[in-house]
Amino acid sequence: MANIFCSSIGRKLVMSLSGLFLILFLFVHLALNSLLLLDGVFGFETGQMFNAGVHFMGTNPIIKIIEPMLAIGFVIHIIYSLILTFQNMKARGPQAYAGGKKTSGVSFSSLNMLPLGIAVFAFLVVHIANFYMRMKGIIAWEPSEVEFPFFGTMAKGEDAYTLVNETFKIGWVVAIYVVGSLSLGLHLAHGFWSAFQTIGWNNTTWLPRLKVIGIVIAVLMGAGFSAIAVAQYLFF
Ligand code: HEM
Repeated sequence: MANIFCSSIGRKLVMSLSGLFLILFLFVHLALNSLLLLDGVFGFETGQMFNAGVHFMGTNPIIKIIEPMLAIGFVIHIIYSLILTFQNMKARGPQAYAGGKKTSGVSFSSLNMLPLGIAVFAFLVVHIANFYMRMKGIIAWEPSEVEFPFFGTMAKGEDAYTLVNETFKIGWVVAIYVVGSLSLGLHLAHGFWSAFQTIGWNNTTWLPRLKVIGIVIAVLMGAGFSAIAVAQYLFF
């Protein structure tokens, strides 16, 4: 059993499953971040919906269990992708990418999964320092306490909205977010269907469908995260 995780296909399976798990997180994350733009639409004061969302995520016991799983998912995905890439480079020369079948229609994404992954990782380092480490008190941040509607009552919590809003007032930070998000989109355009192919869901009916779904997810994530950062910079 242990051997399966040391074989090439076993490693690719682990990478695929961890990648799909991370995509689920991205949907939740994008939904939460879209609250940054929606207060006006629902008649709330600026920042109230996002602060309520962050408060929910920070106090919900289920999220507390999922958070370390997420971190483990990232670590596993990164370590296995590096092992596989170097294994393939050694076996087939520097042109080879981690095991993908490049039989037809080789896309920019499929050829550049490693550089795109590295760009996403570099973005994540900046991103985690910007927000996560401040909110967890690892990097100094003195938030003011604010009130927001929370399941029918008013709750008090940290003003995460102002932290995000002030971060996105800096043009070059917004540029990093746009590059990071677009790299993520391109990474997913190939990664999504490739993961299903590895799992074995690669019949002629479903593979074209999964490729389309992958592109929809890629556009949603790439454009969605970018648009939030740019809209914050321009309009908030
Ligand atoms: C407009 C763009 C984005 C905004 C405003 C944003 C906002 C945030 C905030 C406020 C946190 C801290 C949450 C907390 O500690 O309670 C966070 C954490 C995090 N973000 Fe983002 N994010 C953005 C894009 C992204 C992208 C593109 C990725 C993935 C590539 C990502 C991955 C993460 C991860 C892994 C964490 C740490 C786990 C967590 O706290 O849930 N974020 N983000």
